[in-house]
Amino acid sequence: MKRAKQVSPRKTVRKQPGMHASAGEKKGKAGFQPAKGQHTNGGNSFLREDATPYSTQSAAALEIATAPILENDTAVLDAAPPLGIALETQGADETPSPAKSEALGNIERLNLEAETRWAGKLRVDSSLTRSLVSFQANKGRAVYRWFKYKEAFSAGLIEHLLSKYRITKGILLDPFAGSGTALFAAGGLGMKAEGIELLPIGRTLISTKQLIDLDLMDADVKRLAFWRDERPWGRYEATKPIHELRITRGAYPAETLDGMGKYLAASEQEGERVQAVLLFALLCVLENISFTRKDGQYLRWDYRSGRRQGKKIFNKGEILAFDRAIADKLHQIVDDLRSGELPDDLFATVRSKTEVKLRFGSCLEILPRLKSKAYDSVITSPPYCNRYDYTRTYALELALLGVSENGLAQLRQEMLSCTVENRAKDLLALNPKWKPAVAVADNQPLLQSILAYLDAQKELGLLNNNGIPRMVRGYFYEMACVIFESARVLKSGAPLIMVNDNVRYAGASIPVDIILSEIAGQLGFEVEHILVLPNGKGNSSQQMGAHGRDALRKCVYLWRKV
Ligand SMILES: C[S@@+](CC[C@H](N)C(=O)[O-])C[C@H]1O[C@@H](n2cnc3c(N)ncnc32)[C@H](O)[C@@H]1O
Repeated sequence: MKRAKQVSPRKTVRKQPGMHASAGEKKGKAGFQPAKGQHTNGGNSFLREDATPYSTQSAAALEIATAPILENDTAVLDAAPPLGIALETQGADETPSPAKSEALGNIERLNLEAETRWAGKLRVDSSLTRSLVSFQANKGRAVYRWFKYKEAFSAGLIEHLLSKYRITKGILLDPFAGSGTALFAAGGLGMKAEGIELLPIGRTLISTKQLIDLDLMDADVKRLAFWRDERPWGRYEATKPIHELRITRGAYPAETLDGMGKYLAASEQEGERVQAVLLFALLCVLENISFTRKDGQYLRWDYRSGRRQGKKIFNKGEILAFDRAIADKLHQIVDDLRSGELPDDLFATVRSKTEVKLRFGSCLEILPRLKSKAYDSVITSPPYCNRYDYTRTYALELALLGVSENGLAQLRQEMLSCTVENRAKDLLALNPKWKPAVAVADNQPLLQSILAYLDAQKELGLLNNNGIPRMVRGYFYEMACVIFESARVLKSGAPLIMVNDNVRYAGASIPVDIILSEIAGQLGFEVEHILVLPNGKGNSSQQMGAHGRDALRKCVYLWRKV
């Protein structure tokens, strides 16, 4: 059987709201414009003509900004948000105290110095559109479009990077594999790929795609088409209870819950492969048939759920009926699988027979067990340091997969620290060999000044969540260990490519790109480039208009193992 065709990606790559210059950028405020008249590739053979030097933040960046850290201050939280969780809703008009102004001024000065120091490596790359670097560009790709893993990058990005940096063979490793985009994109090009992923939803997505690639038979696809056309669950008497978690209780309308129960019960009559794809299809539609919407940190609840609403009533729009949603999804899956069989289909690509290997668990546990100098590239996107909690936003999927309350709490703690709920991990107890990584983070001046600032803000009671300093500290120290291990497992000269976003807390910009690159530079990598997307986050007209604040860079880093 052949793999599905690409569904004319060009047609579906639409301009994203952030792709236009913001009002602030147009007025020449801090932003990511290429420096005028400096269109040069600096002699680097990898740097294409569409990469231009990054112009460091203008003086406007030194203005002290205290705009809200999050714009979604009316988000409706899970019915019972965990203790101590509050959204950052600092008033936009709040005037910082002189002490805070001075501390922020210091951070901004350090940031500016760091940017100046890194000016030769920071490059605005106009080929890296926001659509390509996010899940967006997968929406037009057969197979990749089935499950919307919002935090994913696109298969197109991986293909672009593999081609740009001439990575054609060997084993690619992604320690934060998510839905497996890097693994399958590399596999599709004939490379070997290995991934590590903590969450069971990622594991299920990857293993089902593997099953489809390697084992699915024509008869199975026919059976899926039967399910699409005949909707056999509608005639089924038996039902299966749908497992819920505290934070998912009441997520579906009653008739949807009924449909799901019958669908799962009926699917048990099928063989293992068809059953696996039917479960996968159900996972793909959970958000659309529920009262919830994934919203970064939490699930947002539609007012029709009966859950308590915030100041602003949340209406998610159409909530799809179960029968229609699942039949449409099966339609898409069957269509994609069959389109690859058409002999005259120019876009068809044969299903990849490459074995993608997934290790299930935390990369902090698994990386140290991998062989040294065994991998030819790492391409990855870790969670960003942005408080996004995957265990909350993917709670519907995790509940359906049978994760218990305790299991959920454990997963949350095992995740790379990126939420205010993560407790500090004892890294040296986990692995005493990480001493050098911890020492590099201990001696990272920019990181330490940011941590000192956040600690001081906490002491003064000025943070609206006291977990922020612990999260930021945990994030960088844990990432230092991941970088240390990545350097160990990569062959000499092998590239590590990472997608990540800069963040801002309590008004202070945190240049994640520069801090991690400085850490990488001391742990066995040479930093080749930090490729900056043409338009950063945090430069919406509201934010820029009110405060003239600098935009947050979204970047693709290229480091090379020395
Ligand atoms: C930005 S997403 C990666 C998305 C992926 N690039 C894709 O295209 O699907 C980050 C992933 O890291 C995973 N993760 C977080 N902490 C982890 C850990 N300690 N070990 C392994 N995976 C982890 C999350 O569950 C999430 O799937």
